[in-house]
Amino acid sequence: MNNITLLAEIIVNVKNGDDWCCSDCFLRSVPDKLPSSVRTLDFSFNYLSSLYNTTFHRLNELVSLDLTRCGIAFIYDDIFQNQQKLEHLILTGNPIVFIADTAFSALINLKYLSMVQASVNKLTDIPIANLNNLEILDLSGNDIQSLKGLDNFYQERLKKLRLDKNSIEKIERDDLRALKDGMDISFKGNDIVSIEAGAFEALKFHSLDFSDCFNKVDISVILTGLRGVTTNILKLGVYKDSPKTFIQSLSLQNLSDVTVQEINFQLQHFKDLKTTTFEGLTNLERLDFTRTHMSFLNIHISSLIHLVLNENNFEDICNISMANFSDLTHLSIRGNLWSKGLTLQKSCLASLSLLERLDLSHSNLKTGASCCANQLSGLSNLKHLNLSYNFAMQWDPLPFNATPQLRLLDCSHLYFTLNSSAPFQNLLLLETLNLSYTSVDLSNLHLFEGLKKLRLLNLKGNIIQGGTVTETTFSAHFLNTPLLQNLILSACGITSIEKKAFQVLSQLVYADLSENELLLLTTSAFFSLKQIHLNFARNTIVTVEVRDVEDLGENSSIDLSHNPLACNCTNIQFINWVKANGRKMKHLEETVCAATKPKSIDYIISNTATHF
Ligand SMILES: *[C@@H]1O[C@H](CO)[C@@H](O)[C@H](O)[C@H]1NC(C)=O
Ligand SMILES: *[C@@H]1O[C@H](CO)[C@@H](O)[C@H](O)[C@H]1NC(C)=O
Ligand SMILES: *[C@@H]1O[C@H](CO)[C@@H](O)[C@H](O)[C@H]1NC(C)=O
Ligand SMILES: *[C@@H]1O[C@H](CO)[C@@H](O)[C@H](O)[C@H]1NC(C)=O
Repeated sequence: MNNITLLAEIIVNVKNGDDWCCSDCFLRSVPDKLPSSVRTLDFSFNYLSSLYNTTFHRLNELVSLDLTRCGIAFIYDDIFQNQQKLEHLILTGNPIVFIADTAFSALINLKYLSMVQASVNKLTDIPIANLNNLEILDLSGNDIQSLKGLDNFYQERLKKLRLDKNSIEKIERDDLRALKDGMDISFKGNDIVSIEAGAFEALKFHSLDFSDCFNKVDISVILTGLRGVTTNILKLGVYKDSPKTFIQSLSLQNLSDVTVQEINFQLQHFKDLKTTTFEGLTNLERLDFTRTHMSFLNIHISSLIHLVLNENNFEDICNISMANFSDLTHLSIRGNLWSKGLTLQKSCLASLSLLERLDLSHSNLKTGASCCANQLSGLSNLKHLNLSYNFAMQWDPLPFNATPQLRLLDCSHLYFTLNSSAPFQNLLLLETLNLSYTSVDLSNLHLFEGLKKLRLLNLKGNIIQGGTVTETTFSAHFLNTPLLQNLILSACGITSIEKKAFQVLSQLVYADLSENELLLLTTSAFFSLKQIHLNFARNTIVTVEVRDVEDLGENSSIDLSHNPLACNCTNIQFINWVKANGRKMKHLEETVCAATKPKSIDYIISNTATHF
């Protein structure tokens, strides 16, 4: 055993100052080598079996201690008497048999305690009494059968209590008496059988999670039990491996006795949703119907502002009665699963005049002969539109004519055919445009016309004809986008960049030219190097002229990692510059020479004598 400990002491390694990691090192005690100044200690996957008042005695600066899966069975009195600074304690995955009542008595500053899968049977076994600053208690994955003892959890600051995957069947009024307002409580994955009438009456929560609690009862039993509660968030979903159940409209009747702003029903099946099903929910603002197996939706909730319909089976967006959600500001129909495509016809969204964010990504959108002026008509307040990863579409001359307020447009991985030379002409407020992997024709000099406020342009993965970023073409492009700060031209097959190609971009602070085929670094293309981050990683740059880097300002940096740099006399000036300016080099340790055995330029610098 001593040998193991010795070996482990060698393995113990400093991560960063007082942050130590000795995870999985076959340790059976805290090594003497560990300084008493350690603040963060990851001691997981070692072997301790019992914790005594001497185990951590010396480590009186501890703030965070991870004891995940250390085989701890016995926790005796006052084990942390010198650890008053401890804030985080993780006891996950220990087969705890005994905890003394005074085990944690010194932990007056503890904020987070995890006893996940720690063989806890009763809430009364947890010596919580002195933990006056406890904010989060995670008791998931134990075998707690009742909430007896919860009335001792009156900790002033307790905000979050997780009781996921225990064996709680009954919730009684007296159990919940001591809970403060505004907590997050999760009962996720318990097979609830009954909730005493009025148990939640007049209680106020930030969130209540009853997802996956429907194996033994209908959802109506839980909703009846929740009568009178107020909560910002209510989770009533299930998980992929939960047994399939069908929710009937009638079962949701008691929702109207709950005051709630946000409900999540992910992965549920609804049998007979009616327009009136949710009508009693006058405060409901957000509704999440992710993967609820829907192909049409006609419910009425006048207060709703945020609707998530991701991963459903809609065939046509018109099968969602948008007119019932006239206050909606956020709508997400991402990842629709109907394989033949999601039809987006004229005016289906037209009633959503307050909509600000629309996500239609990954949904196999079918937009008919021409998009998107009619399809987006009425969305005059739209600010974010995500059309990424969809079927090819034919654009109108001004596809976003109906949405002149757009700030962000994401068309990544979308193949569109233009019907005019300047499709974005009316988007005078657009700040972010993602045209990555779109095969857009960059020889069209009118493409970016109108984009006077553009700050970020992502053109990744569009091949530039001939491989050269020419001054004529790109100056013409960028004259249209004078405020551009971020330019992404990564993976564009670029072999050379002409002088001054980016010179009109006086506000540029980040240029990504990685994953191209550049042989030479050319920084003369930029307006200024005073304050800019240049990413030239993963090109084929062999030599670097020092004049290309020496003007990089104190707040500038360059990434030349993964280039086949020559570490011989040809690059001596550059290498000398790196010696003095290492901090301006991003990913220096991945910046290697192109010798058969790659050597980090770091290494070259410290061994220059032998190389030059
Ligand atoms: C640890 O506990 C033992 C008895 O349980 C006690 O005799 C001893 O004084 C304690 N050690 C310290 C350092 O308090
Ligand atoms: C658009 O959607 C895609 C896919 O769902 C996502 O990866 C991307 O981050 C979204 N874009 C923005 C700007 O949020
Ligand atoms: C498109 O680019 C923007 C900005 O770089 C980014 O936030 C977004 O996630 C990108 N979209 C996809 C699908 O990668
Ligand atoms: C340095 O190496 C590069 C690439 O292998 C080569 O082209 C160049 O001629 C070499 N310079 C000298 C001085 O040997």
